[in-house]
Amino acid sequence: MAFQSKFCLSSFVLLLSLINCPGAKTDKQSEYFSLMKTALSGSTLSEWTAKGDSSYCNYTGLVCNSQDQVIAMNLARQSLKGSLPPDVCSYLPELQVLNISENDITGRFPHGITNCSVLKVLAMSDLLLSGRLPDFSSMKSLRVLDLSMNKFSGDFPLSITNLTELEVVNFNMNDNFNPWELPENITRLTRLQTLVLSTTILQGSILPSIGNMTSLVDLELSGNFLKGQIPPELGMLKNLKYLMLYYNQLSGKIPEEVGNLTELTGLDMSVNLLTGRIPESICRLPKLKILQLYNNSLTGEIPTALGDSTALTTLSVYQNFLTGRIPQNLGISSAMIAIDLSENQFSSKLPPNVCRGGKLLYFLALSNMFTGEIPQSYADCTSLVRFRVSNNRLVGLVPEGIFSLPNANIIDIADNQVTGTIPREIANAKNMSEFFIQNNKISEFLPSEISGAVNLVKIDLSNNLISGPIPSELSTLKKLDLLLLQHNNFTFSIPESLSQLKSLSILDLSNNQLTGNIPENLSKLLPSTINLSYNHLSGPIPLSLTTGSLGESFSGNPRLCVESHIDPSYKNFSICQTHEQKRSIWLWITVASAIVLSLVAVALFLKRCLRKKEIDTKP
Ligand SMILES: *[C@@H]1O[C@H](CO)[C@@H](O)[C@H](O)[C@H]1NC(C)=O
Ligand SMILES: *[C@@H]1O[C@H](CO)[C@@H](O)[C@H](O)[C@H]1NC(C)=O
Ligand SMILES: *[C@@H]1O[C@H](CO)[C@@H](O)[C@H](O)[C@H]1NC(C)=O
Ligand SMILES: *[C@@H]1O[C@H](CO)[C@@H](O)[C@H](O)[C@H]1NC(C)=O
Ligand SMILES: *[C@@H]1O[C@H](CO)[C@@H](O)[C@H](O)[C@H]1NC(C)=O
Ligand SMILES: *[C@@H]1O[C@H](CO)[C@@H](O)[C@H](O)[C@H]1NC(C)=O
Ligand SMILES: *[C@@H]1O[C@H](CO)[C@@H](O)[C@H](O)[C@H]1NC(C)=O
Ligand SMILES: *[C@@H]1O[C@H](CO)[C@@H](O)[C@H](O)[C@H]1NC(C)=O
Ligand SMILES: *[C@@H]1O[C@H](CO)[C@@H](O)[C@H](O)[C@H]1NC(C)=O
Ligand SMILES: *[C@@H]1O[C@H](CO)[C@@H](O)[C@H](O)[C@H]1NC(C)=O
Ligand SMILES: *[C@@H]1O[C@H](CO)[C@@H](O)[C@H](O)[C@H]1NC(C)=O
Ligand SMILES: *[C@@H]1O[C@H](CO)[C@@H](O)[C@H](O)[C@H]1NC(C)=O
Repeated sequence: MAFQSKFCLSSFVLLLSLINCPGAKTDKQSEYFSLMKTALSGSTLSEWTAKGDSSYCNYTGLVCNSQDQVIAMNLARQSLKGSLPPDVCSYLPELQVLNISENDITGRFPHGITNCSVLKVLAMSDLLLSGRLPDFSSMKSLRVLDLSMNKFSGDFPLSITNLTELEVVNFNMNDNFNPWELPENITRLTRLQTLVLSTTILQGSILPSIGNMTSLVDLELSGNFLKGQIPPELGMLKNLKYLMLYYNQLSGKIPEEVGNLTELTGLDMSVNLLTGRIPESICRLPKLKILQLYNNSLTGEIPTALGDSTALTTLSVYQNFLTGRIPQNLGISSAMIAIDLSENQFSSKLPPNVCRGGKLLYFLALSNMFTGEIPQSYADCTSLVRFRVSNNRLVGLVPEGIFSLPNANIIDIADNQVTGTIPREIANAKNMSEFFIQNNKISEFLPSEISGAVNLVKIDLSNNLISGPIPSELSTLKKLDLLLLQHNNFTFSIPESLSQLKSLSILDLSNNQLTGNIPENLSKLLPSTINLSYNHLSGPIPLSLTTGSLGESFSGNPRLCVESHIDPSYKNFSICQTHEQKRSIWLWITVASAIVLSLVAVALFLKRCLRKKEIDTKP
């Protein structure tokens, strides 16, 4: 009997441990966290201190179910360093969420993760993991797979086509895969909302069948080697909000059907080989905020419908062959943030309302054929960070406020035919680092207040009609690297203070009306390129500046002289007279004048004597 009961008891214990054994389970889970603490470092883990059974449920980042089983591990951005112990799911069999993105975890993909049969979310983004990826087919529950920003190699894991629960697939920036093509059977993933395969060495063409993946909200295939046409079937993705196809080799026209994507808020097909017109249907999309089509071969006009958009904030179409008018009402119905129209053949006036919403940061329209005046509204656009309209056919008076925009880094109106003056208020352009107005008809003085624009790095005012002195206050622009004032009408002498521009690498004052001596101190600027040619400078070229073949930098100043002709490039200048030479010359002049004077006196005396004789002999 005793034997029997003992047997019964032990078999009961055995049974218990086989059926349900919470203690063993928690031990096994605790064991994994011990393993983690050994394999990984980071302040979060060092705070994981065990205080009794299943206390790990209170650990930062962990979530347990009611049976103290860990169901989620959220350890993204915890500065973890090391490697994840493999076989995580034989220790944590109920794990549904594993997020260890943005840590310092290196090495290979932990293959044991494919044993996580109930895992729904796997996020291992931005870890620099390398090596081949396993067959994911067994992870039947997976809904979110984010392996972006790693260095995986080998074949792209097409086994994900088995995982029909997937809603998010993100492999963005894994540029070590073998070249691969998207298989037709990707359409099996009918629940997929996010498909990001940017920069993954994806080749081939975009399959028309993708049009069947109507759950898609975000489709990003940019930075790959996709060829061929954009299939019109994409127009069937009625839930799509983001369509990113930039940096590929896509050709042909932009399908009209893209204009059927009424939920679209971001569309980017830049840097491809697209031709034809921008479809009007796209310009009518009610929610489109971002439209980027730069660097293609698009032709025709921008449909005027775009100007009526109530959603548009960003329009970038630079480097195409677009012509004609820019919708003049652009910016009336929506608050624009960025506009880049550069390097096309637009020939209208600049759209006057782009800053109406008060949010415009970038207005870039360089190298087109824009005509007319710069509208006053741009000068009132205090939000502007960059204003570039160089190389157009703009005329008329530049609104003065353009020169004092408080947030602008770059003001560039070079290569037009505009007139006007630089106002004293330029002192308010505190953020301006590049100021380009060369090749225009800007006149009057350069105000000394320019020294208030303390962040200036590059100034090019060349080829204008600016007169008066070069303000000595320029010397306070400590960051100045480039100062181009050539081909103007600057007068007076070169301020000695320019020698304090320690960062300067190019100084061109040529072709002005500058007079006086060259300040000796300018040699402090060497080895900058200095050009003082074609002025009215006089006196010696400072010895310190005559090192090297700088002849071309001083020519066209006939009254400049050099100490010697040792450097052959100086042979066109006369030799300066030293003090000694000057003194002896004065001596000679004095002696000569004395002789001449005495001779004259003698001559006069003789003449008088003769006359007297004449009188004497007169009857
Ligand atoms: C978790 O912390 C709470 C208080 O913060 C405590 O009441 C509870 O007992 C802890 N649970 C475990 C398992 O340590
Ligand atoms: C998956 O689990 C099985 C059984 O627990 C184990 O034998 C195998 O080694 C695991 N696979 C990996 C890749 O860890
Ligand atoms: C992972 O966690 C980070 C930080 O909380 C979060 O931003 C990211 O969206 C998470 N990833 C997934 C796929 O849930
Ligand atoms: C994945 O799909 C392929 C092709 O349908 C099939 O042969 C394979 O058995 C699937 N693998 C798993 C683990 O379901
Ligand atoms: C999908 O197609 C690819 C390539 O042909 C293949 O490797 C994969 O096993 C297929 N998946 C399924 C589920 O059939
Ligand atoms: C979309 O799916 C339907 C039905 O499954 C199929 O008949 C059709 O060929 C598919 N379309 C494309 C473009 O693959
Ligand atoms: C999609 O766009 C085309 C061309 O713009 C149009 O003819 C067609 O009716 C649209 N289809 C749907 C379903 O809206
Ligand atoms: C697009 O960019 C490439 C490389 O920068 C350049 O060579 C090409 O001229 C650009 N295309 C157009 C249409 O401007
Ligand atoms: C402009 O300068 C101010 C003050 O220096 C600074 O706070 C601001 O961020 C700058 N704006 C831009 C757009 O750089
Ligand atoms: C340059 O200045 C001189 C003298 O101040 C003046 O006579 C001349 O008209 C000016 N030239 C131009 C183009 O402004
Ligand atoms: C120019 O150099 C002289 C002597 O080297 C010095 O006294 C003078 O302060 C310098 N002037 C400037 C503006 O640096
Ligand atoms: C200086 O300017 C003149 C006239 O603009 C030009 O001919 C010469 O090449 C320039 N010299 C240097 C060294 O750049």
